[in-house]
Amino acid sequence: MNELIASRWSPRAFDEHAVVTPDEMRVLLEAARWAPSHGNSQPARFVLGYRGDDTFKRIFDTLRTGNQSWAWRASVLLLGAVITADSRGPLPNTDYGLGLAMENLVLQAVDSGLIAHQMGGFYKEHVHEAFSMPDDVRPVVVVAIGRPGRIEDLPKDLQEKERRERVRRPLSETVFTGSWGQPAF
Ligand SMILES: Cc1cc2nc3c(=O)[nH]c(=O)nc-3n(C[C@H](O)[C@H](O)[C@H](O)COP(=O)(O)O)c2cc1C
Repeated sequence: MNELIASRWSPRAFDEHAVVTPDEMRVLLEAARWAPSHGNSQPARFVLGYRGDDTFKRIFDTLRTGNQSWAWRASVLLLGAVITADSRGPLPNTDYGLGLAMENLVLQAVDSGLIAHQMGGFYKEHVHEAFSMPDDVRPVVVVAIGRPGRIEDLPKDLQEKERRERVRRPLSETVFTGSWGQPAF
């Protein structure tokens, strides 16, 4: 398997002093921009905040407390949203489009020596008001981006999670051939 894919994971230990520059973020967002999408509809939209600025604070304030307990140390918080319609009408497969863009972005982050952790745990209903977002735009995910920090600085329960072995289902449970449930591998 490609080393980039093998080394991507979702850390919570961020360096609270590290800076990620706008030039670095431009590379990550270029990677996202070149993702495929249904009919090239490009439904992904982003709101970008750097630690210390007002946008970071407003994204941070929408996070659930469990995520706030570690994400404050991130250098960047990036909100990912989808437009659900354009001038031609409703758009299909918008979340799929954002997901592909985000995977490009997090893999580019690994290649750039950064760490990235996606979060669905935020109050989506607060986002529209915080950013004067149109009703037909749907917030989907927040990504914390930064550089690795010290695990010992995390709350005790998160230190344990951070050291836990990463696991996945075997292919025998997820890839079928012939009939549903019959393993291909
Ligand atoms: C859409 C999405 C939502 C997620 N939401 C959260 C979250 O709210 N908080 C969190 O700590 N991790 C969250 N994660 C991270 C997952 O828990 C993590 O990707 C999964 O456990 C696999 O671990 P890995 O990314 O290290 O391989 C989310 C990941 C995705 C893709």
